[in-house]
Amino acid sequence: HWVVDKCGINLQNYPHIKEAAGLIRKGEVVAFPTETVYGLGGQVKLDSAAEKIFQAKGRPSDNPLIVHIADRAEVDELAHSIPPYAYLLMNAFWPGPLTVVVPKKEGVLSERVTAGLPTVAIRMPNHPVALALIKESGVPVAAPSANRSGKPSPTAAKHVLDDLNGRIAGIVDAGETGVGLESTVVDCTGDYPIVLRPGGVTQADIESVAGKTDTDTTLKQKEETPKAPGMKYAHYAPEAPLFIMEGLPAVIQQKVDEWRVEGKKVGVLATEESTGLYKADVVIPCGRRSDLTSVAKELYGTLRSFNEQPVDVIIAEAFPAEGVGAAIMNRLEKAAGDKWIKAK
Ligand code: TXA
Ligand code: MG
Repeated sequence: HWVVDKCGINLQNYPHIKEAAGLIRKGEVVAFPTETVYGLGGQVKLDSAAEKIFQAKGRPSDNPLIVHIADRAEVDELAHSIPPYAYLLMNAFWPGPLTVVVPKKEGVLSERVTAGLPTVAIRMPNHPVALALIKESGVPVAAPSANRSGKPSPTAAKHVLDDLNGRIAGIVDAGETGVGLESTVVDCTGDYPIVLRPGGVTQADIESVAGKTDTDTTLKQKEETPKAPGMKYAHYAPEAPLFIMEGLPAVIQQKVDEWRVEGKKVGVLATEESTGLYKADVVIPCGRRSDLTSVAKELYGTLRSFNEQPVDVIIAEAFPAEGVGAAIMNRLEKAAGDKWIKAK
């Protein structure tokens, strides 16, 4: 567990980053901060490194990993037939929370990294520690979020330790991450971009750069198998059952009261604006409704903190699914297993 400051590259931090990179070069796996969530990194050429990642996370092996790079030139070493709009997106949003899925070059990456798919997901994170670590490793770094499979993604080193302590070679700790939700995954293999996983870069952001843009239809209909394999799994869930409810706090309070009469201990995932309006067993604010980026930043930490509370059931306020709200509601619905409560 190496603690470094957010700027990463000063001389005091550098020995730690070098040591972590040395482990990655040797085929070990190390957790590191990005601007979205902590990742669990291993080098992309070794099957054994990818296997260690899947093992540590308990992740199904059919779910491919994102390849993290620190240098744009690496895109053309990893992929081919990249459409012009994909380069426009990279120019606009890299380094940053955007992942492009493009046709992969054969024989460059471990097949485990891409789970045997003909495509590869690539992103350049906007975090000085991540970029320094990747550069120092000398190879692209495959990294999923550094949580046990099914748990909320880690936005602080403590979350990584809670899930993976003893299962990985180390963790580079640079404090809390920024965006708080994972990158936007965009399929760039067709005539126009298709959002496979909403994230820090919004659909409107992508449209403003690439023109016509669509969303994976399975995100809208929830029936077919999603094109990003990871989107089909239950995810992000706290231990107590979680329900989402629309409406004003006074309406949500009625459901809280109903459950408490039945003897249940009820938690509410609220906002700073509404926390004082509830009477429940545990009320935790998750950012400010007036600023959805603050909700995104705190969502996973809030879901995790309910596990330290004696609650039988949790109700989360719903958020408007616009802009970054689309990513918030996508993750909240997954965490809730799509359980909604309708007001009477
Ligand atoms: O912000 C992030 O993206 C974080 C940080 C660590 O960079 N990483 C992350 O990785 O969220 P992970 O493994 O938790 O999620 C990767 C998602 C999964 O839904 C996976 O199925 C999808 O990207 N994916 C990866 N490769 C793909 C491919 N070739 N085609 C379609 N989807 C792919
Ligand atoms: Mg993940």
